[in-house]
Amino acid sequence: METSNERVISTRLDTVTLITINRPESLNALDQLTLQQLDAAVSAIEADPHVKVAIITGAGNKAFVAGADISVMQPLDPIAARRMATTAQLLLNKIENGSTIFIAAINGYALGGGCELALACDIRIAADSAQLGQPEINLGIIPGWGGTQRLPRLVGSSRAKQLMLTGERISAGQAAQIGLVNEVVTAAELMPRAQKLAQTIAEKPKMALQLIKEAVTNGMEMDRNRAFAYEADLFGLCFATADQKEGMLAFLEKRRPDWRDC
Ligand code: HXC
Repeated sequence: METSNERVISTRLDTVTLITINRPESLNALDQLTLQQLDAAVSAIEADPHVKVAIITGAGNKAFVAGADISVMQPLDPIAARRMATTAQLLLNKIENGSTIFIAAINGYALGGGCELALACDIRIAADSAQLGQPEINLGIIPGWGGTQRLPRLVGSSRAKQLMLTGERISAGQAAQIGLVNEVVTAAELMPRAQKLAQTIAEKPKMALQLIKEAVTNGMEMDRNRAFAYEADLFGLCFATADQKEGMLAFLEKRRPDWRDC
């Protein structure tokens, strides 16, 4: 099933949905309409209990997303700029906190808000031609879609500061070295690899996938003792699912589990 909304194309293949940001003439820069359509696509996925994994990529072969649309931002007043930051933060938080597993397939430039979008995803795979960075400093601004918070948590504060203070772009290989992306593959291998990874994850029981994401994402923000208690609570919650009974029974009966995703 494919729904083309012009700026964002959502293609559902069984339990995996591919979201393509489709504004290649502007290197998929995110203006308000594109953000609204991305928000609608993410909400639709979250509302669909059948979808387990979503892959986000950019149309064309040059860019994942080259950032927020600079022509839209240039004339903003402080209140409008603040609203622009918070509105997109809510969307990225929806990706980070949602029940779906999001994979960023970074097919080219992931800059500024584009890098921040990738940071909100659970896993990042990049083509070897991709370049990543937070070049906001070159525009006289700071990252405003969560970059100052997610980037240091992922790569450490010193490396994050270097990227943000210099505005320099780094290669996919360098991004992998600092843990900003999980894997680097050739451009031709990018979508097959992302789809294979999505398929591997989509074959797992949905509730446990969701609880792993929740335990890691929320646990990272807690102190250790609370986080361990939270992990134990979520571990206990697994035992309320049919898939826990089935997964363990299947092991004991030496057969493949028949997941019910509940
Ligand atoms: C608007 C953009 C754009 C952007 C590219 N374009 N990035 N338009 N906003 N972020 C447009 C160009 O204006 C151009 O349009 C077309 O896309 C192709 O781009 P070129 O610059 O001609 O391509 P190239 O020479 O290959 O250079 C690629 C590039 C460069 C290095 C990625 O486009 C670039 O530096 N872009 C800006 C990257 C950036 O600074 N991102 C961060 C934005 S701030 P025309 O019409 O001329 O063909 C941000 C803040 C987020 O994201 C937080 C907000 C709260």
